[in-house]
Amino acid sequence: MNYFLIFFISLVAASHAEGEVIASRGEGLTAWNRIYEVVSHPRCSNCHVGPSDRPMWSGPSYGEPRPHGMMIRAGDSRIGAETIPCRTCHVTNETGGQDVPHAAPQVADAWRLAPVEADWFGRSSDFICAQLRDPARNGGRTVEELAEHLGHDVILHWAWAPGGTREPAPYDLESHIADLRLWGAAGQPCASD
Ligand code: HEC
Ligand code: HEC
Repeated sequence: MNYFLIFFISLVAASHAEGEVIASRGEGLTAWNRIYEVVSHPRCSNCHVGPSDRPMWSGPSYGEPRPHGMMIRAGDSRIGAETIPCRTCHVTNETGGQDVPHAAPQVADAWRLAPVEADWFGRSSDFICAQLRDPARNGGRTVEELAEHLGHDVILHWAWAPGGTREPAPYDLESHIADLRLWGAAGQPCASD
């Protein structure tokens, strides 16, 4: 794509909202690289698995990455309704759960796997980039709607304060949301475009 075309697309994107920032492709890709560090981190990707149906145990506190112990499967329900419901151990807890190493994480929402389309575990930067900007695969959301979703979703807030000996996701919620908006202002570029 030539630079004139990118500039033109940025103008069209920016015309939706007055005062919206217009960012360059380079700024957008730099923001995306930080977004990828977050979404590919175990605190996010352990739940963002595809059709395998198996939540993952990975990250420094787990040793070698492996599927969730105890033969846990999420099923088509993504919440274990067909076998052992996630809430049997991941109790919905308004106060944020306990800070004990290796205890089942608890949050103030029903603990469950992400939608099968949001398949991030072990995926490349380009794969996740293409998924997140595709409304057919991201829950029909614009980038602004994604940013708002992140602000409201208490499950993923846990990823920055996971308790026990778990390594938190990098950066913080606010800078992750700012990066999404910056990526959006640049027209949601992916490195392979
Ligand atoms: C029998 C109890 C039990 C059930 C049922 C269960 N879990 Fe877990 N889960 C655990 C425990 C315990 C841990 C923490 C293990 C550790 O830290 O060593 C855990 C950890 C996890 C993690 C890793 C979190 C992280 O990044 O550290 C994910 C993801 C997860 N569970 C998803 C699920 C999902 C989805 C379901 C339902 C389909 C489910 N679990 C059902 C006990 C359970
Ligand atoms: C306990 C499992 C779990 C963890 C951990 C988790 N998510 Fe999710 N995620 C979900 C579920 C469930 C949904 C669907 C919620 C909805 O659409 O309302 C979701 C949806 C999303 C979406 C909507 C986009 C899409 O393609 O569907 C984004 C973006 C997202 N999560 C980002 C994150 C980030 C970033 C982290 C880590 C900081 C994270 N998630 C950690 C379960 C999880």
